[in-house]
Amino acid sequence: MAYAFFEGEIVPIEEAKVSVRTQALHYGTSCFAGIRGFWNEEQEQLFVFRILDHYERFLDSTKLLRMSLPYSAQDLADITLRLLRQEEYREDVYIRPLGYKASEGIGCQLHGLRDEVTIFADPYGQYMKSEGAHVTFSSWRRVDDNAIPPRGKIGGAYASSALIKSDAVLNGFDEALVLTADGHLAEGSAMNVFVVRRGVASTPLVTDNILEGVTRRTVIRLLQDELGMEPVERSIDRSEVYLADEVFFCGTGAQVVSVTHVDQRAIGSGQTGPITERMRVLHDDVVRGRCEPYRRWCTPVYDD
Ligand SMILES: Cc1ncc(COP(=O)(O)O)c(C=O)c1O
Repeated sequence: MAYAFFEGEIVPIEEAKVSVRTQALHYGTSCFAGIRGFWNEEQEQLFVFRILDHYERFLDSTKLLRMSLPYSAQDLADITLRLLRQEEYREDVYIRPLGYKASEGIGCQLHGLRDEVTIFADPYGQYMKSEGAHVTFSSWRRVDDNAIPPRGKIGGAYASSALIKSDAVLNGFDEALVLTADGHLAEGSAMNVFVVRRGVASTPLVTDNILEGVTRRTVIRLLQDELGMEPVERSIDRSEVYLADEVFFCGTGAQVVSVTHVDQRAIGSGQTGPITERMRVLHDDVVRGRCEPYRRWCTPVYDD
């Protein structure tokens, strides 16, 4: 049976309902996290990946929206684990915490409103195919830190992500790459991006209007510690993408996805490259709790 944490308690999901008058529904004054639980068949365990890192970023987003919630990252993690135990999932799940301006009525503002947090989890498989994505440069630009801060996962900003994603898919592509207003590479519609050229992996700076991705941080660490590379965080030009040997997306939803074509141009050989492939396999092992050095990132839901 499915449950949700809603207005301070765990209730059957059907009871977790808000009014059409809810402020967040009208103005996008919400923020969220996307966390994954990975089922490990051999260990019969559900591992939640980097749960505290996700909740720390979630609390940063609530801060940007002037929310006051009576929960620490650890409190939210504990609630999530309680919820998952009650649901008894034995498969991969996607956990969606949502903070929102819960007051009802007309008036676009952040202050003086009631804030709430809800959490639910759904069984979840692949967000997109993991190999050979054909993507396009979106004609939309990434939201700017001085408009809606992209380092927060703010509901309203995802109207932009939805424009980007739907235009790409309806035009026959799998995803899009998005540029900042000044023309530098930012990310995908809901995932960070790495570009590998002449043996060097680069990823856009956190000051280039990206979400500060947890997977991005994981990939940087794995590139350093497991592949002995020195990934560089810097501004990246559009033409560097066309000339790259490898391009890949990473994110909690997408995991690691190879981009083999951009706007009908082959990236490198037009096949998944060796660094991307290693990262894909390694990342999957890490999130499923199969790599001892990174086991501390994986929180078990059930008693060992
Ligand atoms: C805009 C955006 N960028 C990047 C990411 C990847 O972030 P993370 O790895 O923390 O899931 C996401 C996914 O949530 C996203 O929505």
